Amino acid sequence: MTTEHFRMSESELSEPELFRAAEIISNGGLVAFPTETVYGLGGNAFDAGAAAKIYAAKGRPQDNPLIVHISEPSKLSEVADIVPEKARLLAEKFWPGPLTMILPKKSTIPDETTGGLKTVAVRCPDNRIARELIKRAGCPIAAPSANLSGRPSTTKFSHVAEDLDGRIDAIIDGGDSAIGLESTIIDLTGEVPEVLRPGYLSVKDLSEVIGEVHMDVPVEIKGGLEFVKEEKEEGHPKAPGMKYRHYAPKGRLYLVQGNEGDVIRYINKLAEAAIDEGHTVGVGATTDTKERYRFGRVLDMGLSQDEEQLAAGLYDVLRQFDTIGADIIYMEYIDGGRLKEALHNRLRKAAFQMLYAPRPMQSSRRRRIIFVEGHGNARSAMACALFGRLYEGSDMEALSRGIVVLFPEPLNQKTEAVMVSNGLAVEGFVSQQLSDSEIEQDTMLFAMEERQRRQIISRYPSATEENTHLLSEYVGDELEIMDPYGGSLQTYGICFEVIRSSVQKLSDKILEEKTYG
Ligand code: TXA
Ligand code: MG
Repeated sequence: MTTEHFRMSESELSEPELFRAAEIISNGGLVAFPTETVYGLGGNAFDAGAAAKIYAAKGRPQDNPLIVHISEPSKLSEVADIVPEKARLLAEKFWPGPLTMILPKKSTIPDETTGGLKTVAVRCPDNRIARELIKRAGCPIAAPSANLSGRPSTTKFSHVAEDLDGRIDAIIDGGDSAIGLESTIIDLTGEVPEVLRPGYLSVKDLSEVIGEVHMDVPVEIKGGLEFVKEEKEEGHPKAPGMKYRHYAPKGRLYLVQGNEGDVIRYINKLAEAAIDEGHTVGVGATTDTKERYRFGRVLDMGLSQDEEQLAAGLYDVLRQFDTIGADIIYMEYIDGGRLKEALHNRLRKAAFQMLYAPRPMQSSRRRRIIFVEGHGNARSAMACALFGRLYEGSDMEALSRGIVVLFPEPLNQKTEAVMVSNGLAVEGFVSQQLSDSEIEQDTMLFAMEERQRRQIISRYPSATEENTHLLSEYVGDELEIMDPYGGSLQTYGICFEVIRSSVQKLSDKILEEKTYG
């Protein structure tokens, strides 16, 4: 079958193409269309034959019911037999929008659409293309997410084409999905309403409108992780779709949980080992952490604090791992903020295994790190303060020292300005001359320039090739950290950023040794 492609936007609908798409639906065919959550694969909800085609196109088990989409909240009574007060209140507040309600079904909805259930899942999507399509088709549209069964849902036209081209009649390209996660599903047929699938709207959002709402526990704790086990048990999740491994990339996805630094170090360690074994490794990082990964293809999922962006891009990232051919994927178990319920639910279902990043061992002896430069009141002071901030309260101690300190000086003025604007403590700083007695057995010295490193080794008996390093070289950077002296405030600012990045890598490397030996 050749799949027709139509293209439009919510602000500029294409009338002839909408008409054509609606015609396909009313003739029993299938059209994939955009919604604000993910793309849907639509067919006439009153037509048992269309439902059968949907299952076949997706390769989806027939017991997994479809969501019925309506064009207006007022159409709810055309598909639901009983509309309780709470459903009315929720529709009023959240429709059109990312909320699906389970209600007793009308007899006009065939069993094929609901997977044999006497209930129906209904949603009025907040996307003009979707609603205008439903309106023109003249029937509600049954639509699961428009992906092959088990794969990540689709949030872009290219995703849909990749999975369904040749398997369905048409795809409407309406741009990227705004939300990127499937709707929240709430079951209103029991005594207390129950969330069966978390989504953009949280339990809290819903209970603010209708009072008590339960979270179906199995949905929350059963991820793809427990999938294998679950299959053997008599587990019977209420939303049939939730029992399958879902949203999964082709490679094995490992979610890594723990403190940010521990997670990064663990992923670096695992990725390096997996690459050595010949695997193609993908790493799911955030914009904030991506530079700290040293191995594998690192994909940026977005800013760690911007859960909306993380959600909107999640399925695209999962699919990109397939594109790069990753057979092993390590991903940060992002916090998820307001969307934690939904993001964690999807990630766990997509994952092969959850890993916990080990903590570094604390030793009883304090270990000393000395940053050294000429006068000891600019670059070394910045590095020392940055390192100290990363290691506050730990068994590491950082010092800033000079090679030539004729008399104790305060911080260089521009250094002080840059440090203050970056929230670092500057009070009471005076430069100090490096003394040989400070170089203890496992002390490490870090110079900013190679010339200075050699000076240190030649002048201090305890400084050796083994314990005295060029900072940039030690962390795998190419360029020495040059003296900003005489430069503008901006020059100092740039120097600070270079040092910040090097010190971060240094800390990762030292902690890697402390954790893994
Ligand atoms: O955001 C969404 O909901 C997207 C867009 C296209 O609207 N649709 C979507 O459909 O995610 P799908 O088929 O991928 O997921 C539907 C979920 C499945 O877990 C299914 O088991 C559940 O809804 N479901 C459907 N009808 C149900 C019913 N009568 N009772 C319980 N669960 C039901
Ligand atoms: Mg789906």
